[in-house]
Amino acid sequence: MEIIYNIENINEVAKQLIANVTTKTLLVYGDMGVGKTTLIKAIVKLLGSHDDVSSPTFSIVNEYEANNTLIYHFDLYRIKDVEELYNVGIEDYLFSDNWSIIEWPEKIENIVETPYDRIDLVLNPDNSRTLKLKNKNEFNLINMQSGNI
Ligand SMILES: Nc1ncnc2c1ncn2[C@@H]1O[C@H](COP(=O)(O)OP(=O)(O)O)[C@@H](O)[C@H]1O
Ligand SMILES: [Mg+2]
Repeated sequence: MEIIYNIENINEVAKQLIANVTTKTLLVYGDMGVGKTTLIKAIVKLLGSHDDVSSPTFSIVNEYEANNTLIYHFDLYRIKDVEELYNVGIEDYLFSDNWSIIEWPEKIENIVETPYDRIDLVLNPDNSRTLKLKNKNEFNLINMQSGNI
């Protein structure tokens, strides 16, 4: 799935995205300032949470309460060693039944052992953003084709 969007459409984008994901683990890729946190804010609201969303600054993960579920919001920008992730119990988060939404997932992509959806955000010259969603199956297929697995 691919969507080109502006900030005014962010809630509609979140809706389409959540309707198309196949897991509750979302790896959100994209450069600094591209709109990862903004998108996650819209997703968290869509899932029924009234909690304030900001990138985790002092911790690796923020936790939000939504309708009958929890959302774990990770920002791995400052992670230097996967050991830090094991120390916070990353596996327990990923294996839980709750949502895990992860900014800067490059740091963990090699250790994720649960199914996930990959979201790529790119800034376009006209300031719009392109969102690409790759479901787990599609993603695995692409990975195998390019020999990355
Ligand atoms: N689709 C969009 N169109 C225009 N501006 C956007 C869009 N998405 C996000 N922005 C703006 O980009 C800026 C950075 O967004 P942010 O979510 O903090 O980026 P990131 O988390 O990727 O570093 C914010 O000012 C936000 O309003
Ligand atoms: Mg951010």
